[in-house]
Amino acid sequence: MNQLGLPPIIQGGMGAAVSSWQLAYAVSSEGQLGVVSGTALETVVARRLQDGDQGGHMRRALAAFPYQDVAQHILDTFYLPEGRHGQPYRPMRRITIKPHTEHDQLSVAANFVEVWLAKQSGKGKVGINFLEKLQTATPAALYGAMLAGVDAILMGAGIPREIPQLIRDFADGKPGHLSIDSERPSGVDAPVLEFNPQEVFGAAPKLNKPAFLAIVTAEVLASYLARNEETRPDGFVVEHHSAGGHNAPPRRMQETETGYGPLDEPNFQKIADVGLPFWLAGGRSTPESVTEAFALGAQGVQVGSLFALSNDSGLLDKYRKQMLDAARNGNLRVRTDHRASPTGFPFKVVELPGTVGEESTYQARPRLCDLGYLRSSHIDDAGKVTYRCAAEPDAPFIKKGGEEDDLRARICLCNGLMASIGLGQERADGYHEAPLLTLGSTTTDVESMLKVHPEGWSAKQVVDRLLSGAPANVK
Ligand SMILES: Cc1cc2nc3c(=O)[nH]c(=O)nc-3n(C[C@H](O)[C@H](O)[C@H](O)COP(=O)(O)O)c2cc1C
Repeated sequence: MNQLGLPPIIQGGMGAAVSSWQLAYAVSSEGQLGVVSGTALETVVARRLQDGDQGGHMRRALAAFPYQDVAQHILDTFYLPEGRHGQPYRPMRRITIKPHTEHDQLSVAANFVEVWLAKQSGKGKVGINFLEKLQTATPAALYGAMLAGVDAILMGAGIPREIPQLIRDFADGKPGHLSIDSERPSGVDAPVLEFNPQEVFGAAPKLNKPAFLAIVTAEVLASYLARNEETRPDGFVVEHHSAGGHNAPPRRMQETETGYGPLDEPNFQKIADVGLPFWLAGGRSTPESVTEAFALGAQGVQVGSLFALSNDSGLLDKYRKQMLDAARNGNLRVRTDHRASPTGFPFKVVELPGTVGEESTYQARPRLCDLGYLRSSHIDDAGKVTYRCAAEPDAPFIKKGGEEDDLRARICLCNGLMASIGLGQERADGYHEAPLLTLGSTTTDVESMLKVHPEGWSAKQVVDRLLSGAPANVK
């Protein structure tokens, strides 16, 4: 343990619900930091309820939610005891820059549910991961996680400069505010989204303040955030561009296979000089690379891919097994795709048959945007707000002022990632959303784990392997 009381192993947040409560529960049961993904949880929980709430976990956690009228309304709206019988999932309201009480209540409850369930081990700590890019979803989601007593907030994919204040305000029982990076005419202030617990629930209790770890790729961002008391996190996860999911763009696009070059390697000495605790992520899954992380001054490591491939993860078994089979045959291919994500950030795409990471399956998908978590907001001179996502159909995107070139080769992350965890939409026209899979590009870590556990592994076995590389005084 270190000054933050956080353990050496962090199981990285993996959206959406790849790092489900079950995975975080398994990791925290081992005394390490299990992290649930806070991405799109209101859709995840609403869909689990529509699928009959297997195991009764959603209802069990909702029964512990402090606002029972809200919990009951959610059950009345979404719970189908017999499942959907092949019917599409209910459409969800897409989030905007304006608060919306019913949606906010659902979001708070869903984040509460996921953290509450993960915490039932009563042993280690539980964190939640948010993406800075998904700003409009963040305040309500963060509040729900804090209501369930989350121990740590981890946030990447952007510059989380307002999050420390948001956490402090919620802990003090005050409304929280977040500026939204809308595109807008010059001279117009950024819109500010407010989440006011008193208005949404009629109560605003004081809450425990979790630790805040900013996920950064370079020392520049770490020292920028640490410089000012308002923006200073409690620590960092320093994530290499080999990590799964979204990556920070290269400082300068290189002619390499990934687009990254030597400029994108973090300077560990400068990060240590910032003086805050840090964990290293991205290709840190062998005992040797864990030992090295400690030698570089880190408190430990954050690992994603090996946990995603463990049998405790939220990934649908068949996709997990398909990836393990590919790795067994030396055939697991992960590309750094600079076009796939509508956010414009590079995204790691696993190239597997039957997934949208493969060209023919991608081409067969009719474009549609019905979840909209990655939509950006645009304010015109008259103050009118429009929303667009570069993975939506061409015509509306261009009508709303988007550039045609921006549409090329974008993948609908929202629907693809939902399908990877078995919650893919089955559309009324008969189209079933195909999955999108992501992993870190250090596939050799997967291959070497397979040598030790040829039939696959549990989250506990990942923890044991990582700890075998840690110095004796932290185990
Ligand atoms: C399936 C998957 C989904 C991920 N999703 C997120 C995410 O939603 N937010 C985030 O900050 N990092 C995400 N990551 C990154 C992990 O949290 C972790 O930092 C990274 O995977 C570490 O690299 P490794 O896979 O080589 O261990 C994801 C990684 C994977 C494999």
